[in-house]
Amino acid sequence: MIAKLLPSLRTSLLLAAGLGALLSPLAGHADERGKEIYGPCAACHGEFGQGGKKGEYPRIAGQQAKYMESQLKAFQKRIRVNIPMVPYTEERELSHEDMKIVSEYVAGIELPTAIPTFKDTDDALTRLQAMEKVMIVPREPGDVEAGKAIYQKQCAACHGKTAKGRGMFPRLVGQYSQYLKRQVDLYLKGDRPHDEETTQGVLNTLKPEEIQNIMAYVTALQEEVNKQ
Ligand code: HEC
Ligand code: HEC
Repeated sequence: MIAKLLPSLRTSLLLAAGLGALLSPLAGHADERGKEIYGPCAACHGEFGQGGKKGEYPRIAGQQAKYMESQLKAFQKRIRVNIPMVPYTEERELSHEDMKIVSEYVAGIELPTAIPTFKDTDDALTRLQAMEKVMIVPREPGDVEAGKAIYQKQCAACHGKTAKGRGMFPRLVGQYSQYLKRQVDLYLKGDRPHDEETTQGVLNTLKPEEIQNIMAYVTALQEEVNKQ
């Protein structure tokens, strides 16, 4: 019996050691793993995380990693209701570890925000692919100065002075306005929790035109942020 078990035990040990050796270099390639997990997400969020359909699918490239991870968990627990993403965030599809890896991968994707200058040698495909990545959200109408005043007073503390977000606070600059406005509506209706105590209050005190002015400011800010 023991004699029979021993070789198999040795095989398992060898296998385990072999796997360990295989896995350790992979740990250094979290990016590759991230890209792999991201595969099915691209159908909606685009190959480079640039989103699509004018904000039906949000841009997630360059979004804050910690924030995205928290959102994926919220989708999984149905705290934030997102019907299209439900099958992709089920436990068996996406473990918490994978959520972290994919969030970090997506956060690290930088999208150019200016039309690239091409070399004469660049072929049509190279040009097309480069253009697909360019992310410029159109300017929103509204009073930019008024929007700036409200934004800097009431939103900047969490979303950052240039609206790039930080940690658990999402980036707003460079995001589709349609998407942002839809989120504000969801918060106001109480369908999505904005922030535990303080923030729903912040959004609740704003008139629709003030929200529009904030959008005008955030889309104008884009150009400023891009120059940095
Ligand atoms: C079938 C389409 C679809 C697929 C596939 C999909 N998503 Fe989404 N995702 C959406 C939609 C739609 C929203 C916005 C929902 C809303 O308006 O509240 C969203 C929102 C998000 C958000 C929140 C963005 C923010 O700014 O709050 C993150 C993060 C995200 N998706 C990541 C992923 C990842 C990672 C995957 C792959 C594992 C994925 N999504 C797959 C449709 C999809
Ligand atoms: C006290 C901190 C705080 C302040 C102040 C604040 N927010 Fe937020 N905001 C958050 C947090 C946290 C989230 C993410 C909530 C979640 O988990 O869904 C968020 C999410 C958002 C989103 C959704 C982003 C996305 O990608 O889905 C919008 C839009 C938004 N806030 C707008 C505003 C505006 C406009 C103001 C100022 C009037 C503001 N917030 C002030 C903390 C804050």
